[in-house]
Amino acid sequence: MSTNPSLPLSAPAASSPSTLNRAPIGIFDSGLGGLSVLRAVHAHLPDEAILYAADSRYAPYGERDDDFIGDRTLAICEWLAAQGAKALVVACNTATAQSIALVRERLSIPLIGVEPGIKPAALRSTSRVAGVLATQVTLRSARFQDLLNRYAADCRFLCQPGHGLVQAIERCDVGSDALRALLVGYLQPMLDAGADTLVLGCTHYPFLDATIRDIVGDRLALIDTSVAIARQLERVLEQRNLRAAPGSAPGLPRFFSTSDGAHLHQLAATLLHLDAPVQHVSIPSRRTSASDSQPDSLPA
Ligand code: DGL
Repeated sequence: MSTNPSLPLSAPAASSPSTLNRAPIGIFDSGLGGLSVLRAVHAHLPDEAILYAADSRYAPYGERDDDFIGDRTLAICEWLAAQGAKALVVACNTATAQSIALVRERLSIPLIGVEPGIKPAALRSTSRVAGVLATQVTLRSARFQDLLNRYAADCRFLCQPGHGLVQAIERCDVGSDALRALLVGYLQPMLDAGADTLVLGCTHYPFLDATIRDIVGDRLALIDTSVAIARQLERVLEQRNLRAAPGSAPGLPRFFSTSDGAHLHQLAATLLHLDAPVQHVSIPSRRTSASDSQPDSLPA
């Protein structure tokens, strides 16, 4: 990890349309998972500058209470907006499920959330049995229940909380024996029930695709919505005349982390081939400001 303390952190002055077009997209996740969305956005919209903020100090959000997730999501989104982001992608299913309505109330810039690909899975499954791996918070959310009600009428979805998976990826573990054993425990019951499709309902999980593929072979089609999110972002930017000019050559994304950023740098460099510095940032919030000088321990 390297740091660059000279990077400006203040909001730009009032922007003309062309200045606004050159402004970056802000992408946020509880940790490293949003890099799977960044990968798709960077490939699909190569002229757009990107700021990526990982709240790794407080990940995983899937083990947190609702108020904590809302508090951190709002703080990070406000911080990205203050850096001059022209649009935000909440690249976290858990934060979207729990808090996107709150952020929409507070921020006026375009906001794109993510949600598990229930609709594409229901369209794709021929056995009419599909698995969903997501965090407990996502699975118990009203938004997720609404997705099932809308799209899963004639398809059985087996919903499995992916306890331990986000923690492994935050350590840059995408294929250890222990991780593989955890995945086998989650996936085998789906295979036994006849599932032919698996929804990766957490943006961390696409980094497990090789290990999942190794376990299930071609018995499960993997549904990852990151490319659809990049397309949705493109549509929103176009509707608002916010696209960067072609050939803008924005350079590498700028990475920020509320932890030391070493694993963010490692995962971006090894899996995305984006070898960019990571700047540590402190983003206090109502629930964390008092303890911001000390890492906040997770509930047992
Ligand atoms: N990438 C986040 C998601 O999509 C992980 C949530 C967590 O931190 O538990 O849900």
